[in-house]
Amino acid sequence: MRLLAFASALSLDLLADHEVAALTVTAQIAKYCPSDSGGICYRLNVPEQTASSGNGDIFFQIQGPSTKQWIAVGQGTGMTGANIFVIYADGSGTNVTLSPRLGKGHFQPLFNSEAQVFLLEGSGIANCQMTANVRCSNCGSWSGGSMDFTSNKASWIWSVNNGSPLKSDSQSANLNEHSDKDKFTFDLTQARGGNSLNPFADAAASASSTSSASTTTAESNAYPNAASTASSTRDGDNSGSNADDETSLRATIAHGTIMGFTFIIVFPLGALLIRLCSFKALVWVHAGVQIFGYILALTGLSLGIFIGMVPTFELNLYHPIIGIIVIALLVFQPILGLLHHRIHRTSLNISFYSVIHVWLGRVAITLGIINGGLGLRLADNTSKGAIVYGIIAGVVWSAWVGVMVLTYLKKQGSST
Ligand code: HEM
Ligand code: HEM
Ligand SMILES: *[C@@H]1O[C@H](CO)[C@@H](O)[C@H](O)[C@H]1NC(C)=O
Repeated sequence: MRLLAFASALSLDLLADHEVAALTVTAQIAKYCPSDSGGICYRLNVPEQTASSGNGDIFFQIQGPSTKQWIAVGQGTGMTGANIFVIYADGSGTNVTLSPRLGKGHFQPLFNSEAQVFLLEGSGIANCQMTANVRCSNCGSWSGGSMDFTSNKASWIWSVNNGSPLKSDSQSANLNEHSDKDKFTFDLTQARGGNSLNPFADAAASASSTSSASTTTAESNAYPNAASTASSTRDGDNSGSNADDETSLRATIAHGTIMGFTFIIVFPLGALLIRLCSFKALVWVHAGVQIFGYILALTGLSLGIFIGMVPTFELNLYHPIIGIIVIALLVFQPILGLLHHRIHRTSLNISFYSVIHVWLGRVAITLGIINGGLGLRLADNTSKGAIVYGIIAGVVWSAWVGVMVLTYLKKQGSST
């Protein structure tokens, strides 16, 4: 009974954890791809904390062909008074230089040493694309203007120079005048949400995909609420399917919750029961709990395969493969358990089937628990969800191994 109470408390914790996980993945990303820019896109996320407090970090991404001399985005209604961010190929040509500048008029904006901007993981030059994932810690106001992070019509500007790559490490490199430029607005309410420390990490990984269709899906999959919300004086490329994103977010949460519950609660509980308790129908209770767990795991697997159908699949290799192996291994458990049970009733020998059943069960369930951790890493949660999962998994697994060892020692003791 105490064990059951313990287990149900854990399962509530786990569900709560998944609620947290669900909230943390809903960082919204607004996207704006000027239609005549030859493949440049800007993305923006305003974390919940920043939106509600009025200041703090914001995240934006600048992405476009690496053949361009430079690509820029700025906060403001025009060059004068704008807070501008320019990117260009660095000296090595493998990463980008991020150059914050202030627009003072219709001439080259100059380096702004006050800007607190940082290039994040996922920035770089690959497959003819340059990408800058940027965190800005003081973009709420600058010398020349300010931005209300709750505005549904925040003014931005963009521009590009089509010349050959700059290849400079200097943040104050000399720029040629733009080949193309325009104003646009971001609906910041559609960029609001989440608390990720790098909301574009997954989007950047998917940039290696050559098909634009799969890039779009991948991004929406990672940020299911990402809405294409920019409007412009020119037509923006604002395609996106929110219905699909919602479905895949729900499937991901359901998959993770079901798998976590199954592998760190149901299976270990079934295993512990058979070691800790002793009553007549025990085998059948164990069998019932484990088969129930197996059905849950199959449900989780179907959801996993459903999520895996989206083109991000190549990013998520180990987790689904280990998952399939674990579930394939466990398919033998009911038969082995049954065989063992039949032999056990007729002879007193510890059967071959029993050893396989016990050890296959222990190894496969343990692998499944580890795989859950890998899954959480994939989901790019904040560490909170992963930590809670890790703690519960650690406690349950240690208790299980502890009981295994104790009963083994007890058995050794009583047989001498
Ligand atoms: C032992 C079996 C498995 C366990 C314990 C497990 C556990 C998890 C967990 C905890 C998450 C994080 C979900 C969240 O809270 O957001 C996750 C995500 C995911 N899992 Fe599994 N899983 C298993 C098997 C599979 C299999 C077999 C597949 C595919 C065929 C799969 C595909 C995925 C995918 C695609 C994600 C989402 C990754 C993303 O959105 O970037 N999983 N899994
Ligand atoms: C997916 C289904 C199943 C799984 C995952 C599973 C898993 C396990 C595990 C992990 C153990 C070892 C417990 C420990 O840690 O000490 C175990 C023991 C056992 N299981 Fe299962 N089991 C399953 C189904 C069944 C079925 C259907 C039966 C019988 C009808 C059964 C009968 C037993 C028995 C008798 C033991 C004790 C073996 C011994 O102590 O020598 N199991 N099972
Ligand atoms: C580019 O630089 C950023 C910031 O230092 C780093 O996080 C990123 O991994 C680098 N990218 C490559 C491809 O080296």
